[in-house]
Amino acid sequence: MARTAVTQPATPQESFQHKLSGTLNERLALSGLAYSVPEHANSLPYILGGISLFGFVILIASGVLLAQFYHPHPSSAHNSVIYIMTQVPFGDIIRSIHYWAANLVTLLVLIHMLRVFFTASYKRPREINWLAGLGLLAVTLGFVFTGSVLKWDQEGVEALGHNQEIGEILGSLGVWFTGEFSRTVPILTRLYVGHVTLLPALFVVLMAVHFYLIKQLGISRKATADATSGPTSATSGESVTSRFTVHLQKMVGYGLLLFSFIIILSLFFPAPLGKAGIAGAEVTKPPWMFLPIYPLEDLLGITGLLIGGATLFILLAAVPFVDRSPWLSPRRRKWVIAVGMIILMALIILGGYAWLSRPAVHLIQ
Ligand code: HEM
Repeated sequence: MARTAVTQPATPQESFQHKLSGTLNERLALSGLAYSVPEHANSLPYILGGISLFGFVILIASGVLLAQFYHPHPSSAHNSVIYIMTQVPFGDIIRSIHYWAANLVTLLVLIHMLRVFFTASYKRPREINWLAGLGLLAVTLGFVFTGSVLKWDQEGVEALGHNQEIGEILGSLGVWFTGEFSRTVPILTRLYVGHVTLLPALFVVLMAVHFYLIKQLGISRKATADATSGPTSATSGESVTSRFTVHLQKMVGYGLLLFSFIIILSLFFPAPLGKAGIAGAEVTKPPWMFLPIYPLEDLLGITGLLIGGATLFILLAAVPFVDRSPWLSPRRRKWVIAVGMIILMALIILGGYAWLSRPAVHLIQ
């Protein structure tokens, strides 16, 4: 009896909301989203991927606005960025939102990956989803890299120089990354096309695989002392005590917090822009996410960047195939956690060293 009384709309406003939700539910089958999930799936560490996705929505919206005024040609790219910052209404803040969202989303994706690593959520049967996640990480870094070239200041021109050199080292495999590929369209314009069409398309495909697998396999079990890997669908006997709609609500809540933080950062620390770039000089540092492999360039030249980046991705890809015990708890995977922590520390130290040291001045031919 009491239950009926609670669900009955009491005021005209509640009655309207009741009708609206009924109408929407009937057409969009929204109740299908209220499926059962384990309680821990709605805790912050397990929502980081969703918050990253929310950040991508901010990136798409601000990126579409920027694209109305950005001109992807070497002769006018830098000037068009200055135009966005000085002439377009709210242009400076939109550009800063795009910049800070890119930085924070990359950080969130990395922390999300660390969560998956600590809770061993990459174990059977989620190995392929770990690899799809690695693909998403590569795409995220690809967005940052191409984006840093587009502003066409000194940092952008140097990043493009690296892009071309790596393309040349890769030979016929890397020809797309060099000016040789097309005589009619400048490489800056092609990287812009990569930034706004190729990478987003790859992102959508990988995201679809990622989400399909999460839905089919369920979220991994809580990494308690005796927990083992396995699928966690509602039928597999896992105790389910919450709903996916709660997950979505929390994701949007944290996402809006992220957006507020991005706006505050954008207001107080506008996105930087260097002077128009001069090809040949190397006087800037790359964005922070590339800093850990930056010292390798001083040691081995551009090949060092390629070797460093490839080694990291190969090591990460190997994780589910090396750590094959069924245990999820970090306490039962001490050596894997120790190796992971040593590599993480080494990357932070290398990044810190690159951050503090002045860039070595190289001259590209
Ligand atoms: C663009 C970047 C990414 C987005 C938007 C994303 C999104 C998500 C979302 C929404 C989930 C559901 C649970 C959660 O939020 O923790 C998830 C789970 C997962 N993600 Fe990602 N992800 C990204 C990158 C990665 C990366 C870099 C990896 C690892 C290399 C990864 C591996 C996984 C795995 C294995 C799961 C299943 C976790 C479990 O069952 O507990 N993801 N991802």
